Amino acid sequence: MTLNNFKEMRLATFTLILLLALPLSGIAQNEKWNETEQQKEDRLAWWTNDRFGMFVHWGLYALPARHEWVQMRERLTTEQYSKYFERFNPDLYNPKEWARKAKEAGMKYVVLTTKHHEGFCLFDSKYTDYKSTNTPIAKDLVKEYVEALRSEGLKVGFYYSLIDWHHPHYTVDRIHPLRPNNKRDYKKLNKGRDMNIYREYLHNQIKELLSNYGTVDLLWLDYSFPGEFGKDRNDWDSEKLIDMVRTLQPGIIVNDRLDLKDMSKGWDFTTPEQFKVAEWPTYDGKRIPWETCQTFSGSWGYYRDEHTWKDTKQLLVLLIESVSKGGNLLLNVGPTGRGNFDERADKALAAMGNWMKYNSRAIYGCTQAPEEYSVPDHSLLTYNPETKRLYIHLLDYPLQNFRLKGMKGKVKYAQFLHDASEIKISAPYGHWIKEKLGEDDLNLSLPVTKPNVEIPVIEIFLED
Ligand code: GLC
Repeated sequence: MTLNNFKEMRLATFTLILLLALPLSGIAQNEKWNETEQQKEDRLAWWTNDRFGMFVHWGLYALPARHEWVQMRERLTTEQYSKYFERFNPDLYNPKEWARKAKEAGMKYVVLTTKHHEGFCLFDSKYTDYKSTNTPIAKDLVKEYVEALRSEGLKVGFYYSLIDWHHPHYTVDRIHPLRPNNKRDYKKLNKGRDMNIYREYLHNQIKELLSNYGTVDLLWLDYSFPGEFGKDRNDWDSEKLIDMVRTLQPGIIVNDRLDLKDMSKGWDFTTPEQFKVAEWPTYDGKRIPWETCQTFSGSWGYYRDEHTWKDTKQLLVLLIESVSKGGNLLLNVGPTGRGNFDERADKALAAMGNWMKYNSRAIYGCTQAPEEYSVPDHSLLTYNPETKRLYIHLLDYPLQNFRLKGMKGKVKYAQFLHDASEIKISAPYGHWIKEKLGEDDLNLSLPVTKPNVEIPVIEIFLED
């Protein structure tokens, strides 16, 4: 055999092996997942545009009303926790009202806990009896939720907990209600528990959720905690799971808690929780889509006696600041055991809605402003790249003279966003400041009285 023949043979063998192996490998299964950056951007476009969503944490834990982790915190056994299952009867549940309230607050999508860590399902799963249809309310609550959202034109999101404290085959780990005090005891406790069985259950339920309720726009899976007595991608078989998700709902947007950060198909956006990022988060040196999830107070589930509620300004700043760094805000409501929103949540939502009614143009479709526009004192900037308008959010209302550094020649027109009243670009009032106004700076002359808007916004029409 000549050297060339030998080389050709080697190449042919190699190609053959590759062809045989491909259908078995992830690559072939996910061919359509060789998504370009542009395709990903397009798939995420509605979400990036909408910026503001509602998280809803609702389950049996609404009854103890002392945190959705109550079962874990108080180390309650399935038996002890069952009193909530027996009494779950949210007679005031009206998802149309939820949807209306979300919409009025300016939110464009909602993400509901179809199952939280406690394992209780708000949907009629054929793989468990631990579901709302078997409680006094006897309804598939997810079905009604989806219908209500759609009729209000809101996008549909499902949260699903990878963690499950009810399933008998879910192994006891370091955050399980039955966790031992002693490392040695895990083995004993996990005798007879088989994660393979739980894993199959988990895949089956995700399949149900993504098959039985029409288009699901967003999936929020929660969460992995690798390490000793933790759970990671192997426990969930995350790769197989995400492949199924992408196949069943090709347009869906998925968060990043499957422990698949190193695979582009494994996640779409990152999720800083109860945390304000200092700047636009990056991965591998690139800015990535992100959404911060936040609570009104210190709990996700309804917590009667928790009083650390954020005020309207804090909530608005969370939203504006997220957009000013290119991100979204998912703000949580924990409905009560009757199924309605607590009056404190109602108030907060209404206040945000009041601001959004007049100022949403500075949120939807907006993002971080280009660096050439410097951020004025005590304010945040958002920017709409389509309309080329810049929004200055006045966190601390200035006294008349408002300096825009380096903005000379860049501003065509300025107005308050809430009432479209012109703001004059004129020489600063008073000789003190005149001396300090730099050559490239501009001065806006604001009215002395702060408009009756929690955070007033100046809309700047930029020169082309
Ligand atoms: C967490 C918590 C949880 C909450 C979630 C929201 O990881 O376990 O209770 O649902 O974050 O981001």
